[in-house]
Amino acid sequence: MNDLARIAALLDQRPEGHCLPQGLYNDPVAFAFDQQAIYGTSWIMAGFACELPRSGSYLSQMVGSWPILIVRGRDGAIRAFHNSCRHRGSILCQPGSGHAPRIVCPYHNWTYDLEGALLAASRMGDDFDKASHGLKPLRIEEVAGALFVCFADEPPPFADFAAKLQTYLGPHRLDQAKLAFESTISESANWKLVMENGRECYHCITGHPELARTFPVGMSKHFDVAADERAKAFLETMAANDLATDAIEGDWWQLARFALNPEVRSLSMDGKPLVKKLMCEANGGDIGSMRLAIDPHCFVHATADHVFMFSAMPVSPTETHVTGKWLVHKDAVEGEDYSVDELAKLWTVTNLQDKELAENNQKGVNSPAYTPGPYSRDAEMLALRFTDWYCNTARSYLESQSADVV
Ligand code: FES
Ligand SMILES: [Fe+2]
Repeated sequence: MNDLARIAALLDQRPEGHCLPQGLYNDPVAFAFDQQAIYGTSWIMAGFACELPRSGSYLSQMVGSWPILIVRGRDGAIRAFHNSCRHRGSILCQPGSGHAPRIVCPYHNWTYDLEGALLAASRMGDDFDKASHGLKPLRIEEVAGALFVCFADEPPPFADFAAKLQTYLGPHRLDQAKLAFESTISESANWKLVMENGRECYHCITGHPELARTFPVGMSKHFDVAADERAKAFLETMAANDLATDAIEGDWWQLARFALNPEVRSLSMDGKPLVKKLMCEANGGDIGSMRLAIDPHCFVHATADHVFMFSAMPVSPTETHVTGKWLVHKDAVEGEDYSVDELAKLWTVTNLQDKELAENNQKGVNSPAYTPGPYSRDAEMLALRFTDWYCNTARSYLESQSADVV
């Protein structure tokens, strides 16, 4: 049986409505498959345009095992490239952000312009063709200040998602935002366990006492609100402020705006705003939370005062990097309008709690006694949706490679 046939057999072992067979959570073959078939074919949210404030700003990051580089050019346009030198393949910029007038490879100094063209390569001879050794571009889209990249030649449909995201995220004015804080933690768990955990709040009442103060952790099914009086009033107020609320979804994305707990204005430790200068001033900043979720790797919560992004990247079969990014209004002054410690506190606490839960999950999944168990149809619908999406995407990839599945 080859590797693809092994993946197909594992997918076939999964009972409907259940989590995945062990091999899909810890086998190196599944890890390599996920890079190609999942992260290599999906739209990945790579960050925000405000992280690239001027010509020469760049953002270097790993999408799983594959390095990418996002650069704002001299013309102001944002482009994405494979972060791999056309000489012998070194990465050009270490993961992180920065600014440079040109992109210079640290190995033998091949030098590229901000649009990816090779400008200089010493001692390569007169017949060397620089024009055919530019950086390899990557598809990139910007919507409402958020950046999305895709490795696939034929990416999943994007236009409908882009229009909907503009409607939901646009009022948060990310063109007026700045990155206030970023952190990455390493979790000893497969990326799918990390994401399943991030897609359900079955564990939140006991697992996240801090989050439970502000976040409606008992919410069931999708993020469509219950028809109680407070929820109805929330929907009417949001409609009067031209803020979309409906829980909508496509194959690989979900959008909703939902009410936070009573008297709560932000996802903070005490429910109070974390930033004095608001990103969205509608209804005095009492606008619940706008949630965006993208498969395979990401969710975003946008309250009136800040935006939080969560992104999970596979590192090995049982290691995942979780990056958090916090945006605030660009004119908010650190120390006066907000404190980074307070801004980051709730999600930092929550992410560390989730790290422990995901790591416990991985250890138990490695047991010879593990068999996939059923999700709660009430409390884990989004985790089930994620796992179904994973299996469907994996099967589509296998079909595209069908000659090789033997
Ligand atoms: S690998 Fe980049 S210059 Fe040699
Ligand atoms: Fe959690």
